[in-house]
Amino acid sequence: MDSLKITGGQTLNGTIPISGAKNSALKLMAASLLTREPLTLTNMPNLADTRFLSQLLASLGVEVYWPKGDNECRLNAAELTSTIAPYDQVRKMRASFNVLGPMLAREGHATVSLPGGCAIGARPVDLHLNALEALGADLKVEAGYVKAAAIHGLKGAKVVFPIVSVGATEHAMLAATLAKGETVLENAAREPEIADLADCLNKMGAKVSGAGTATVTIEGVESLSGTQHSVMPDRIETGTYAMAAAAAGGDVTLEGAPVKALGAMIDAMQRCGITVDADADAGTIRVQRNGTALQAINVDTQPHPGFPTDLQAQFMALMSIADGTSVIRENIFENRFMHAPELSRLGADIQVRGKEAIVQGVKQLRGAPVMATDLRASVSLVIAGLAAEGETQVNRIYHLDRGFERLEEKLSGCGAVIERVDGE
Ligand code: UD1
Repeated sequence: MDSLKITGGQTLNGTIPISGAKNSALKLMAASLLTREPLTLTNMPNLADTRFLSQLLASLGVEVYWPKGDNECRLNAAELTSTIAPYDQVRKMRASFNVLGPMLAREGHATVSLPGGCAIGARPVDLHLNALEALGADLKVEAGYVKAAAIHGLKGAKVVFPIVSVGATEHAMLAATLAKGETVLENAAREPEIADLADCLNKMGAKVSGAGTATVTIEGVESLSGTQHSVMPDRIETGTYAMAAAAAGGDVTLEGAPVKALGAMIDAMQRCGITVDADADAGTIRVQRNGTALQAINVDTQPHPGFPTDLQAQFMALMSIADGTSVIRENIFENRFMHAPELSRLGADIQVRGKEAIVQGVKQLRGAPVMATDLRASVSLVIAGLAAEGETQVNRIYHLDRGFERLEEKLSGCGAVIERVDGE
């Protein structure tokens, strides 16, 4: 298995281009199943997860044209040859489950394995299933598979989510575009990727309004057409490099950044004493820290527009070298502190108590071999490794390849000493 070798202690200076958002791309790709015409996605991130979903779509009969390394992907679901997404295809990545709603809406039936994904808590799909049932689907869960049918098509309905879920909001939105009549989603997630999906769906002829607010209304239409859509930039990748620059020190400008989607993160970083200059019109965020101390602050993860859970691990790496004590509370997922013991191997002082991690800042981290456990956790180890003295080896980096495009190249372009070591 490949690993990353990082020689820490170098400041980062330069510019980093931001890639398309993984979490948006995956749902946009699922939208291709709703139409017989081609959907062309530009600014596509080349990642293990997006490539993986393209294979799943191909196995359903979608013609995928996506040359290796290219950022443009053409998906043509003129004919579906299967409406079954098997266990092997879905278990590796939870977002694959989102093919269920579109296939059901279009074909009237679909069978999809229950998902897997990052090991960050139970992560059920009950909210997805309840929403599809509210839209008139007949669902059976048998032998690890969801068998869904809607012989006479889906029907618009009111869906009130008991808790905010990004995936369930998107899934219901996708399915409702082809339902008869109006669907209203209440207590919908407000993440920017949901607005991105709605933009694309509307270009395809859907009638979605309110995406990005807590109430999303979808007026069902007979059919959707193809379109071209540029995937929004990745706010989590942006936040990750912003924190890497702050942890290592230096002066880094993130280009093509979704500035407006990062308010909570920018505010948190500024409260730590980091100089962050964000220009929404130019799409740039400049992060500077030259010798100034980092101030420890407390952070609570919340649904958007709160502080994102997907930046919690990276923020913990930063707080591990701040002055003072930081309490980091994880409100979205249970069991999302697997990075804490690994950060401790680098010398961080972290105690986990239930939903809270108490981080007592230390003067200096020191390099050590560590192990990546999930996507965002692994990149927090990279950040810590950049700030640490000496050599850090991050093992099991296949997690990183799921969500970060050209990570070593982007960081070494700013002066980081980081290289991929081939495993046996
Ligand atoms: C998406 C993101 C993920 C991010 C998360 C929260 C993608 C591909 N992934 O994941 O990176 O960390 O949003 O911002 O977009 N829940 C239920 N039942 C359900 C669905 C969710 O109880 O049917 C719970 C989850 O266990 C979790 C909470 O709801 O505790 C929020 O999860 P959700 O917003 O659905 O996350 P994902 O869509 O899986």
